[in-house]
Amino acid sequence: MIDQNKIPCHIAIVMDGNGRWAKKRNLPHLAGHNAGMGAMKEIIKKSSALGVEHLTVYAFSTENWKRAADEVNGIFKLLVLYVDKELEELHENNVKVKILGDYRALPKFAVERIEKAVQRTQDNTGMQFNIALNYGGRDEVVRAVKDICEQIKDGSLLPEQVTEETISERLYTGKNFANVPDPDLVIRTSGEMRISNYLLWQSAYSEFVFTDVLWPDFTPLDLEKAIFEYQNRERRFGGR
Ligand code: FPP
Repeated sequence: MIDQNKIPCHIAIVMDGNGRWAKKRNLPHLAGHNAGMGAMKEIIKKSSALGVEHLTVYAFSTENWKRAADEVNGIFKLLVLYVDKELEELHENNVKVKILGDYRALPKFAVERIEKAVQRTQDNTGMQFNIALNYGGRDEVVRAVKDICEQIKDGSLLPEQVTEETISERLYTGKNFANVPDPDLVIRTSGEMRISNYLLWQSAYSEFVFTDVLWPDFTPLDLEKAIFEYQNRERRFGGR
């Protein structure tokens, strides 16, 4: 079905619909995130087996702080549970973990596990698994612009030297940070058709696939279907 020679190098996912999945079952919202973590595990395995080089998931946005404190803390606790349970398997599978976003603003217990996961896997050479945590597309552009302004102020950069690259390299995906190429394919589950501040700069030429499947129900077969759809699109990057 899918062409092994045209696997997208970078797949980025908005794992949406955990809340609705839980609501349909009369379960608390966090049960949906828990089930979502299960789906994520399977998608990591499948992506790695297919030869995807970068998989990026949106785990927590700069706007998600507006949610109930219980839910926010619950997501961080799930993250810790995930690292404690899965880190060795990720490591054995040669997966390299990187974080996009200002994760240092998270509670200390979460920051410790995140750093442990990044350090443990830093020399791995397989798929890079990027977790967007306290990440916002506008926020990272503001950070890049501030950094550029500082350099212009101290004279180490001239305004006429500012290019797209000057901005790109200062983003969380930039070569001084997680070093991730632009996503080829962005998938959003649960029927919502928004970008929600995800990889705004980086997704300029990405293909988008939207599915009604709620994230906890998203299977490796759904991933293959999204890749199939991607492979049947014609990418022109603004050219003919
Ligand atoms: C969106 O669903 C999902 C999130 C905001 C969080 C996703 C988190 C996980 C899958 C678990 C933890 C992650 C890691 C990396 C261990 P929603 O709550 O907005 O769903 P709704 O729109 O149906 O309410």
